[in-house]
Amino acid sequence: MHVLGGKKVLLGITAGIAAYKTANLVRLFIKSGAEVKVIMTPASKDFITPLTLSTLSKNPVHSTFYEKEAENELWNNHVDLGLWADIMLIAPATANTLSKMTDGTCDNLLLATYLSAKCPVYFAPAMDLDMYQHPSTKKSLATLQDFGNILIPATSGELASGLIGEGRMAEPKDIVAFIENDFLSKLPLRGKKILITAGPTYEAIDPVRFIGNHSSGKMGFEIAKTAADLGAEVFLIAGPSHQKVTHSFIDRINVKSAQEMYDACHQYYKNVDVAILAAAVADYRPKNIATQKIKKKDAALVIELEPTKDILKSLGQEKTTQLLVGFALETNNEIENAKSKIVKKNLDLIILNSLQDKGAGFATDTNKITIIDADFNQKPFELKSKKEVSVDIINEILKRVL
Ligand code: CTP
Repeated sequence: MHVLGGKKVLLGITAGIAAYKTANLVRLFIKSGAEVKVIMTPASKDFITPLTLSTLSKNPVHSTFYEKEAENELWNNHVDLGLWADIMLIAPATANTLSKMTDGTCDNLLLATYLSAKCPVYFAPAMDLDMYQHPSTKKSLATLQDFGNILIPATSGELASGLIGEGRMAEPKDIVAFIENDFLSKLPLRGKKILITAGPTYEAIDPVRFIGNHSSGKMGFEIAKTAADLGAEVFLIAGPSHQKVTHSFIDRINVKSAQEMYDACHQYYKNVDVAILAAAVADYRPKNIATQKIKKKDAALVIELEPTKDILKSLGQEKTTQLLVGFALETNNEIENAKSKIVKKNLDLIILNSLQDKGAGFATDTNKITIIDADFNQKPFELKSKKEVSVDIINEILKRVL
């Protein structure tokens, strides 16, 4: 997974020789799935052309408040640009710009946008050795960090002046890696392991037939994606489902039957912090699986069924430190049934779906849930998309695992 996938990166370029490296920087951000807009100080255009950067970023490059040359004279709204960004990066950041950033000077579009930005601001200084060592620069770096901006330290090496020492802008690949790692480390579920079950199970009758159900797996897959986006390492134990998932934090383990799901859950359960059982597991399976295809006869066919193991209940019995979350799909007497499942299966939370609610349950894109905790506190939610429901569920979990 690219942490920066879909993120909006606003790159501010100031007038240092390292500006020539920003072409590569833009390319790397685009490659990581980010969207990039560039603001240049007027003087930085001496080091790299706006055309190069707009071509690579696939966006117009801005450098003044007002673009007279544009076909329709254009006002570049620094507030909009600041609000657009998920991440602002100033690279290279010269001593001049750093100093202006400390005292709120905003005599160009980049500085005004910096003052308007609500997102995390990273800055990668670049300047000559003596400038980098100067107490005023050191003071700027400290002040900017006190403001909450994030320093991407300059490195040591041969500088454009020929001097050797500290002041070289970090390499573009290191800047991108720095921001990715910083983002990752701040994700609230970073370091947490979550087991999630999803989809139906298929219980074989003979080599070609099975007993299954209409579960699409959507709810469980959405929960897995939401948890992974927040940094969790997810073990998604999925019954047969057409849902797709591509996320480097999600390890998908495909199973078919309730027994296979049971085995996989028990394999991972010991090492996880949270288990969320969203699968629609068959409660019964054929007692004997015919080894040959069952032939049609005139008489009625009776298939004897035996109960499957209740996976959730078995995890409840083995629970040590895990937060255990179950689902309950009910048609009547919903709250009471859900509460008794909390007790019977030793759960911390249960997500109740009532089939009385339109748009809730199987094979829809929406769901309507009530979350009940072990003290029987109830939290009903509106009908929402399964994506939004997954966020509500993960938010409740976050309150309990942080
Ligand atoms: N579940 C499970 N293993 C089973 C059956 C259910 O892990 N063999 C889990 C489901 O994933 C869900 C919860 O148990 O999280 C409740 O499922 P549900 O079908 O509502 O309840 P059951 O316990 O099967 O009871 P009933 O069908 O009688 O309501």
